Amino acid sequence: MVEIKSVGVVGGGQMGSGIAQLAAVNGLDVWLHDSDSAALNKALKSISNNIQRLISRGKLNKEKGDDSLRRLRCALSLEDFHSVDIVIEAIVEFEDVKKKLFAHLDKTVKGSAILASNTSSISITRLASATSRSSQVIGMHFMNPPPIMKLVEIVRGADTSDDTFNTTKCLAERFGKTIICSQDFSGFIVNRILMPMINEAFHALYTGVATKEDIDTGMKLGTNHPMGPLELADFIGLDVCLSIMKVLHAGLGDSKYAPCPLLVQYVDAGRLGRKRGIGVYNYSKTTKEMKPLARL
Ligand code: NAI
Repeated sequence: MVEIKSVGVVGGGQMGSGIAQLAAVNGLDVWLHDSDSAALNKALKSISNNIQRLISRGKLNKEKGDDSLRRLRCALSLEDFHSVDIVIEAIVEFEDVKKKLFAHLDKTVKGSAILASNTSSISITRLASATSRSSQVIGMHFMNPPPIMKLVEIVRGADTSDDTFNTTKCLAERFGKTIICSQDFSGFIVNRILMPMINEAFHALYTGVATKEDIDTGMKLGTNHPMGPLELADFIGLDVCLSIMKVLHAGLGDSKYAPCPLLVQYVDAGRLGRKRGIGVYNYSKTTKEMKPLARL
């Protein structure tokens, strides 16, 4: 089992930036890449602000904080990943786009490197099939936000080796996470259960069962969830939720996983949740809130 000293993170959105921060704070050399240079700059700024905030609140000592910032580098191309020990992919939740990236990474990184995906739902076995190193491909599913949430769900593809599994598990434990292990079925453990609940909350809103506030309050106070399902969907990103529902529907073949038309409409309208300032709820003072579709 190799000791992981350096990591390449692809995708500097909500998840990739959090994973890069976590890795740097835990003493790894980090290369962060995003195909969108504005997203990459935003990610670097947000990581730097987060680390400064941790230092000023006394949650991270200054020396360690400064060291993490020194360890974090921005990769303008994937060629900068040639010496990393592991790549963690956190780009958009579309299988074809991820497969293309995995094929490219396979040709770019050193032969011993592990290729991990933070996918919420897509088959690790199929991502691995785009590479010539299927025994070194694995799912490493962080929760949002990665520096805070305690869980990492590890997903073994059909050919993932014990060595790849053990190295990935050690890395997650070094990050202070508890791990759970899932077989490679659409949605794995967490999203197989969470996303149908979120989708059902959209159906409740769509069919006029209750207001969004009452649906969320009902689930918070009635079932002791820290966030209501619609609030959580905004936090995750409605586009991510929709992509996961599509993967569940296609992969498990049951109509109960069909995405709610209201979720589809919000995504079509670009109302993707907190990251866009508006989703089910309005987080920006300037944008008008969207009325739900006509009730059924
Ligand atoms: P996001 O939309 O915030 O960020 C995705 C980033 O990937 C964007 O900055 C985009 O420019 C970049 N990107 C897209 N295609 C690329 C490519 N080919 N090469 C390089 N960069 C590319 O998405 P988010 O929420 O960070 O999700 C990323 C992944 O993590 C998805 O697979 C998602 O399912 C998974 N995930 C998301 C969670 C959430 O709560 N949002 C939780 C756990 C996993």
